[in-house]
Amino acid sequence: MEKTRWGIAGAGKIAHRFAEGLMHVKGAQPAAVASRSLEKARAFAAQYGFEKSCGSYEEMALDSSIDIVYVATPHTMHMRDVLMFLGAGRAVVCEKPLAVNAREAEAMIKKAREKNVFFMEGMWTRFFPAIKKSLEWIKQGRIGTPKMLHASFGYDREEKNAWRYNRSMAGGALLDVGIYPLALAFAVFGADPNKSSAFARVENGIDMCNAFTLAYEDGAIAVLSSAIALALDNRAVVSGSKGSVIIGEGDWWHPSRAALLVDGEEQEVFEEPFPTWGFQYEAEAVQRCMLQGLKEAPEMPLDETLKIAQMLDKLRADFGVAYEEDEL
Ligand SMILES: NC(=O)c1ccc[n+]([C@@H]2O[C@H](COP(=O)([O-])OP(=O)(O)OC[C@H]3O[C@@H](n4cnc5c(N)ncnc54)[C@H](OP(=O)(O)O)[C@@H]3O)[C@@H](O)[C@H]2O)c1
Repeated sequence: MEKTRWGIAGAGKIAHRFAEGLMHVKGAQPAAVASRSLEKARAFAAQYGFEKSCGSYEEMALDSSIDIVYVATPHTMHMRDVLMFLGAGRAVVCEKPLAVNAREAEAMIKKAREKNVFFMEGMWTRFFPAIKKSLEWIKQGRIGTPKMLHASFGYDREEKNAWRYNRSMAGGALLDVGIYPLALAFAVFGADPNKSSAFARVENGIDMCNAFTLAYEDGAIAVLSSAIALALDNRAVVSGSKGSVIIGEGDWWHPSRAALLVDGEEQEVFEEPFPTWGFQYEAEAVQRCMLQGLKEAPEMPLDETLKIAQMLDKLRADFGVAYEEDEL
């Protein structure tokens, strides 16, 4: 079995969940973890069995024994961190949103192509078997022509002082969670909507909740919403001329289940329970790409990531949220 040596940059919340997933991927070697604090890196390494702890991201970038780095820092750090790892010749999976805006995303993609290494935005939703099955049903025409998608992602947390509520850290609902329903719409209807509209409740310069719609040439419409200070119903339903697909049972973004409802037929259910949060599906797919020598993942190509970033810019402009990075 060929092995892939993984490094993790930033030992925060999602890095823990990713590391748990990595433990379930055959051939994935937990090689190194980098944190701004060596003590934190050591504790993380001990918890998941990483070989090496680095007290800076720079130290891990220089370690040529690492095949691929998972970047799990806040949005505003992504460009700096990704350019450093790509520059050092490492393959990279960077958490969503890849960048604060399309200008940054473009620079990162350009660098990856120059260095000819694997690069991907960590859109983990794309890799869940229940989401893949849903997209397959739709592609096969099982619900006729897909005409509408309704999807939301909204939560309310107590810790409103976290960076995701801070404008200077590119906080706000759209970049934090609205990107998921947006990426789902692109997967269902394609990456080229011809119209969009967006509204948001903006507080302290960031969107606390938002609603946006995308309209496509053929008449298909996606009705999407997200929030970081309001729990939403968190369902995703694709309706077509002959039936519908329901992704998950709430919290659709990491589903173990999908249901196909076709008019006049018995409901078909796909179920694949999994341990932990499910990051193993994304990590497994990335590892497969690496071993095959691919530079992009077919599930989340870089040109599509750039289109997502461009649409995020447009939606933010529509509801009047701008970050310092937009002014450069
Ligand atoms: N795929 C998903 O489901 C999912 C879920 C949540 C978040 N995310 C994405 O993952 C990224 C990280 O989110 P998170 O929730 O894990 O955040 P978090 O818990 O705050 O962790 C981020 C880590 O980044 C490092 N960091 C570097 N510079 C920092 C700075 N100036 N301020 C704060 N932390 C800094 C810190 O690690 P060290 O102290 O170890 O250096 C910190 O622990 C975000 O881009 C987010 O959108 C993805």
